[in-house]
Amino acid sequence: MVSDTAAVDGVGGLGPGGRPSRWASLHATGGTSGTYDRRGAAAAPGSVGERYERRFAELAAAGMNVHGEAALCAALVPPGGRILDAGCGTGRVAIRLAELGYACTGVDVDPSMLARARAASDAVSWVLADLADLADLGGQFDLVVAAGNVIPLLAEGSEARVVRALAERVRPGGLLVAGFGLDSAHLPLPQAPFGLAEYDSWCAQAGLALERRLATWEGAPSAPGDGYAVSIHGRR
Ligand SMILES: C[S@@+](CC[C@H](N)C(=O)[O-])C[C@H]1O[C@@H](n2cnc3c(N)ncnc32)[C@H](O)[C@@H]1O
Repeated sequence: MVSDTAAVDGVGGLGPGGRPSRWASLHATGGTSGTYDRRGAAAAPGSVGERYERRFAELAAAGMNVHGEAALCAALVPPGGRILDAGCGTGRVAIRLAELGYACTGVDVDPSMLARARAASDAVSWVLADLADLADLGGQFDLVVAAGNVIPLLAEGSEARVVRALAERVRPGGLLVAGFGLDSAHLPLPQAPFGLAEYDSWCAQAGLALERRLATWEGAPSAPGDGYAVSIHGRR
């Protein structure tokens, strides 16, 4: 369990050899190109968490559905279930799920993101920790969700370890649901750091089998060459 891994600008998440997370590097350099460009946000005043929260508030105000991830999770697990929001950021997904009647825990290693989550809701149990080490978290969950490109934004080389740590938090019969971009148009990175075959192999090594793959959180079917995927893996 971590609360002292500040790597870049107070944003933590260290990989092998002390490498910072891609999320931390992104906010140290001000972002990269692509339709998911955050350069504007990075130049705006306020902490990383404040800027991220503001961006989603603006999208919601413009009429965009910012709760697709929570809606899919709610369709997979009945209300009252235990849900872990892994890389919860400012709490967008966990807070919505708590409103829908789920018992939610949100974990993130970026103090500025978690500070906004804590300020927004006390209906979720917030934990400042590195997803690579969840030994102290205790218990298992009906569903673990990693929304918003959490897996590609981990520290390089830490992905398999994090997937294993997440899988250990999934109860038998439970699910790991992860959505992430597969090209630069759907990632705040110049290129995808890995593909679906690699992600599936990390899941398989961690005892999880692929149950469904979608192209969007709204449930569109996936197809070869998609730029985004939502993967649902189950623990038998
Ligand atoms: C793009 S944000 C997504 C936030 C949230 N899931 C959402 O969809 O709004 C990615 C998050 O992953 C978190 N993250 C990256 N590496 C992490 C790690 N090793 N442990 C915990 N959180 C991590 C970052 O701190 C950041 O809050």
